[in-house]
Amino acid sequence: MNSHLIVIHGDKRVPTDSPASIVQTTRQGNVLVVSLHNPPVNALGQPVRAGLLAAVAEADADPTVQAVLIVGEGKAFIAGADIREFGKPPVAPSLPEVCNRIEASSKIVIAAIHGPALGGGLEVAMSAHYRVALPAATLGLPEVNLGLLPGAGGTQRAPRLMGVQAAADLMLSGKHLSAKAALAAGLVDKLVEGGDAMVAGLTHAHELLATRAVPRRTRDIDIADKATALAELDALAADTARKSRGLFSPTKIVECIRAAVELPFDEGIAKERDLFVECLNSPQRAGLIHAFFAERETAKIPEAKAAAPRHFANIAVIGGGTMGAGITVSALDAGLKVTMIERDAESIARGQSNVEKVYDGLIGKGRLSAEAKAEIMTRYTPGISYDDICDADLVIEAVFEDIEVKKAVFKELDRVCKPGAVLATNTSYLDIDAIAAATSRPQDVIGLHFFSPANIMKLLEIVVPTTVASDVVTTAFELAKRLKKVPVRAGVCDGFIGNRILAVYKQAADYMMEDGASPYEIDEAVRGFGYPMGPFQVSDLAGGDIGWATRKRRAATRDPRARYVEVADRLCERGWFGQKTGRGFYLYPHGARVGQADPEVLAIVDAERAKKGITPRQFSADDIIRRYMAAMVNEGAKVLEEGIALRPLDIDVTFLSGYGFPRFRGGPMKWADMHGLPKVLADIREFAKEDALFWKPAPLLEKLVAEGRDFETLNKAA
Ligand code: 3HC
Ligand code: NAI
Repeated sequence: MNSHLIVIHGDKRVPTDSPASIVQTTRQGNVLVVSLHNPPVNALGQPVRAGLLAAVAEADADPTVQAVLIVGEGKAFIAGADIREFGKPPVAPSLPEVCNRIEASSKIVIAAIHGPALGGGLEVAMSAHYRVALPAATLGLPEVNLGLLPGAGGTQRAPRLMGVQAAADLMLSGKHLSAKAALAAGLVDKLVEGGDAMVAGLTHAHELLATRAVPRRTRDIDIADKATALAELDALAADTARKSRGLFSPTKIVECIRAAVELPFDEGIAKERDLFVECLNSPQRAGLIHAFFAERETAKIPEAKAAAPRHFANIAVIGGGTMGAGITVSALDAGLKVTMIERDAESIARGQSNVEKVYDGLIGKGRLSAEAKAEIMTRYTPGISYDDICDADLVIEAVFEDIEVKKAVFKELDRVCKPGAVLATNTSYLDIDAIAAATSRPQDVIGLHFFSPANIMKLLEIVVPTTVASDVVTTAFELAKRLKKVPVRAGVCDGFIGNRILAVYKQAADYMMEDGASPYEIDEAVRGFGYPMGPFQVSDLAGGDIGWATRKRRAATRDPRARYVEVADRLCERGWFGQKTGRGFYLYPHGARVGQADPEVLAIVDAERAKKGITPRQFSADDIIRRYMAAMVNEGAKVLEEGIALRPLDIDVTFLSGYGFPRFRGGPMKWADMHGLPKVLADIREFAKEDALFWKPAPLLEKLVAEGRDFETLNKAA
């Protein structure tokens, strides 16, 4: 937004971080313009709150001021409370106090919204007496995503402005409304197509003053038909309790809305404050806010300081199978041009059909038009000759997981690709240093490990081989941004960050299965922890044959002293690969997607126990989680000390974005910090009495415990 105002603060120079420079007040005739300058997003930190309070007092005290206009400088109106302040001692004035003061002003207050007005930002706007929006405005109450509820009157004012159902939907979904949708919902009074927020706001202020408008306080609006609203809330409360899967704040949001309907405004506000503080003090809030910042931190990598990304517009994808097709869709959706290369005419036809199937599915659901698909497909080119990709800026290989096949493909890429093209592999486990060495340009070779389905899953592990150039790494991060992925930088090892740690906690699950827990009990305990699925359900979904192939590949190099559970092999030998074959660890009769427990699988497990002379013992859900998590955290610590992950938060983001780890727990390393590293280490040492090889404590974990530190100290030090 361009401000044409001159900032006047008497003849005093104002320090740049003082409330006065962060919240600037200027006069435009009889309107006091209050403009927020708190980059990057005008979060409502203490100086902003203090500045807003002072500005309203200034307006009220000055008889020549007839209206107050609140605008935000930069890209946001106000993105909400300053999330970094949560968990620290509160500093006055509180945001509810500021909002109440704005609403109580004797002068009409107008909010002009040109960008995000989220959380506390929308609460400020709802406390204003009138609201005008520009087309790029987005309005929402996304506190639920941070384990919170709108705590500055949002739960009381939104139902009054937009009705109980719409307000509940806004707060429970955390979604952002466009300016148009906000207008339709009654959140804003007017949508102004052109100009900036200052002009739109001043114009509206003058229109209001011309009609002698008076303060129109949201708190004074009556909620219509309270009986119906309460009945709706009963249904909503039951639905929310069922859907929130262990999340704390959604049910509290419904309680607050009920208070808005049943109680006078001030009592509703008091109730909201109590429940907000409960949410603020919950570990879920700590986990979710850790996740919010961690997802933004992973893009901060050492190479970013050293090198700008290379230009890319033309992408080539080698292989049109599950991953190649998904990656192609992801790149096409980002507006890039993609040439797909397959082995022969039949395979490329299948590859193209894999891509088209995704778009046809969307058309079938009414989420894409045939014309939009046709436009997208104009940027897609099929091919069976590597010579077709001599102009590609960036190539992503997604052929069979076989090192010799990959090396052969990279030799071809080396032959045809233009100098400076980035050559990436989507391998899940293989040695990317070895793949790079198969070319004459190892500095251009990098790993881009997408997750299935690649057009949907957010995680992109960017695997950095020893020889790669810095600008290739920054190009990969730029690609992730373009594809709207969450990038995590990983080093080369078998399985990188995610699959390497997965292999270890899956092993812990296998050991528990052989020692007495059924796969169904393990899955249930893991779901109870907050995962959408347990490890045996995941194996059935991914296809047991994939893990089987990996186990066979690793058989030759497996430590002969290591314990090996053969149950999964027994299932695969019978052709029970999971959902796609109708049975795996579970039965899927008639193509069912939800599996049933299978007595024959339990019999196979029993036979394997008997073969090894194991007497099965009981595992409670807590026992299961202790071992599952201890294995995950211990391997995570090893991944860190080997430098495979830059920081603990990179491991957290990997598991949150790629492996269904419950977001409200913040990721495995954050969970370990909150649970207590000494407790995790004590568990590992206890389990080591049964199997010292598997449960060898990571030296880094021992060191942190000995020094009384946690993983967060490593995040901060990085
Ligand atoms: N507090 C503190 N920092 C914030 C912030 C906030 N509310 N919102 C964003 N930031 C920071 C980010 O961490 C990032 O910092 P960095 O550059 O150091 O990494 C920077 O602002 C830019 O953020 P993004 O990278 O996310 O920028 P985008 O342009 O992609 O997105 C946004 C902008 C849509 C505003 C997005 O940042 C966002 O969704 N922010 C959070 C909004 C939110 O949840 N608000 C509710 C807060 S809770 C609340 O208000 C409680 C109240 O009810 C009492
Ligand atoms: P897939 O078997 O579905 O597809 C592989 C495709 O590569 C086939 O269509 C095949 O015709 C083609 N192909 C083989 N050799 C080729 C060559 N020389 N030139 C051109 N095309 C060739 O396999 P999928 O599942 O897509 O896996 C591909 C890669 O992605 C593997 O490295 C795998 O480890 C990795 N990966 C797989 C994930 C998954 O969940 N399936 C997840 C993440 C990575």
